[in-house]
Amino acid sequence: MNTVAVVTGATRNLGLALAQGLAGRLEPGDVVYLTGRDPRRVGEAVEKVTAASAEVRGEVLDVSDGDMVARFAASLGGRHGGADIIFSNHYSRVEPGDDPAEVVDRYVAVNNLGTTAVLRAFAPLLRDGSRLLVVASTAGTLHTLAPVLHARFTGLQSLDDVDAAVCTWRDAVRERRAAGQAWPAWINIPSKIGQVAAVRVLARQRRASDLRRGILIAAVCPGLIDTGASRPWLDMTRAQTPAQAAEALLGLALGPHPDPGWYGELVRFGKVLPWSP
Ligand SMILES: NC(=O)c1ccc[n+]([C@@H]2O[C@H](COP(=O)([O-])OP(=O)(O)OC[C@H]3O[C@@H](n4cnc5c(N)ncnc54)[C@H](OP(=O)(O)O)[C@@H]3O)[C@@H](O)[C@H]2O)c1
Repeated sequence: MNTVAVVTGATRNLGLALAQGLAGRLEPGDVVYLTGRDPRRVGEAVEKVTAASAEVRGEVLDVSDGDMVARFAASLGGRHGGADIIFSNHYSRVEPGDDPAEVVDRYVAVNNLGTTAVLRAFAPLLRDGSRLLVVASTAGTLHTLAPVLHARFTGLQSLDDVDAAVCTWRDAVRERRAAGQAWPAWINIPSKIGQVAAVRVLARQRRASDLRRGILIAAVCPGLIDTGASRPWLDMTRAQTPAQAAEALLGLALGPHPDPGWYGELVRFGKVLPWSP
């Protein structure tokens, strides 16, 4: 059976490098969906992919539009009968000069509600041996959060619970109550924790059956990458290029026997980052 892969937010940087890597390493007859929110940028990104063995299809997919995500997944399921590799990679940026209260709605709509939309839509399509990988970061563990807030992200039972927890934080940011509740100023941190919490909840629901079927669902940390998303915030001296950062993630997606210990966890360079202290 041919392999079907999807990358969200694939119009530049890590997402484009993941699509390029899949296109070069999969085989003729396989299909890589290079997706993004903007039709022109999707077309330009498809043109940038070189030496593809698999077919690369550009698709407009704005993950903040839950109906669009569901429609795309349904049409992909109809066309191919399932999916084998999903990278949930999209990212809506925040700049140091942004007022968090002004940008948090968009930020959460893409980075969190967009991610749970992808998980809901694509998890039912996963074939035996498939991989559903959410690109998160080292920020996505409870170590980065004040202990008083840990309970907000533990004991969650469903993706709806995760969305509700994230939206409670989002509303506090929008209404300028977040600092008084010990939330970190950089909105990337609770957002990434919300992504990892979503992966953990979905994995808990599916664990026994997925492990039996060789399916890996995990959050992944690519390490520091020199892109416009991180450059304004972090020292780039030791940052990877997007192509370098894509390597470990492609290994998780394409390697034959995923470590069962990775299932439902946040994985960085093959090692699990503990969720809680
Ligand atoms: N950079 C780092 O150091 C670093 C470190 C750890 C983790 N990560 C994670 O790695 C991932 C990629 O990071 P990056 O640095 O490559 O980010 P980036 O350069 O900002 O690229 C983000 C991608 O997401 C797309 N996107 C934005 N809004 C979207 C939407 N509504 N629907 C679909 N796609 C959308 C962007 O499209 P446009 O081209 O249209 O804007 C772009 O293709 C993110 O999840 C990030 O948090 C990055």
